[in-house]
Amino acid sequence: MRTPFVVGNWKLNKTIGEALSLVTELKNQLSAVKGVAVGVAPTFVALGSVAKRLEGSAIATCAQDCFWESTGAWTGELSAPLLADAGATWAIVGHSERRQHFGDTSVSVGKKARAVLAAGLGVIVCVGETLAERDGNRTLQVVDEQLAGGLGDMAASVAPKLVIAYEPVWAIGTGRTATPAQAQEVHAHIRQRLTERFGAVAADQIRIQYGGSVKPSNAEALMAEKDIDGALVGGASLEAADFIAIVKAARSG
Ligand code: PGA
Repeated sequence: MRTPFVVGNWKLNKTIGEALSLVTELKNQLSAVKGVAVGVAPTFVALGSVAKRLEGSAIATCAQDCFWESTGAWTGELSAPLLADAGATWAIVGHSERRQHFGDTSVSVGKKARAVLAAGLGVIVCVGETLAERDGNRTLQVVDEQLAGGLGDMAASVAPKLVIAYEPVWAIGTGRTATPAQAQEVHAHIRQRLTERFGAVAADQIRIQYGGSVKPSNAEALMAEKDIDGALVGGASLEAADFIAIVKAARSG
């Protein structure tokens, strides 16, 4: 039985002060909620303060990205050991906005994912097709290619620290969500690929989040699908009430 994992991806939003007030509210209101794991991904500048505020709570602090080298002449970059030092326990890699605007490729996403795991953090590897790719019936092919690159040569033992986020690009920030059936079809496909890659036991442990305009109104139906194990939430994670409603909808059991 997989514990669902809901992560709020704040993207380029919230000052440190705003981040702290949101996270304080989440910490207070989610302390008694069981059967679901929760994380927040603040901006890098707020990450250390957020992690400190979350000490003693079960809410994980996640980074939104991570470079693959640990130290050196890499102006502007942040490494997995530094993120861990600031208090992060998870990092997202391969978000479609990184792929679209910042040149991330399946190869670089794989390098990032391996660096995150090597530093002892958990990794959320995002995959998902554009509208043109879906319309061209290439969804599964694109997901396969991104998944293969993202996983690289990982071993099955990473399963507890590996999360795949399926985020159709056409559903991100558009208000247009994949239907539960559309999402489940791709999630089942990903699970099948994970089974081929890691074996059934590990594949059964790996959580596959759905992302793309998840809201309180659609979360329950999405989370009811067999292979949807939580959500990566953008816009709706910026408001405590909406995010809390999504977390509650994702509870198992
Ligand atoms: P959204 O973003 O919920 O605002 O669509 C999801 C994401 O990009 O992770």
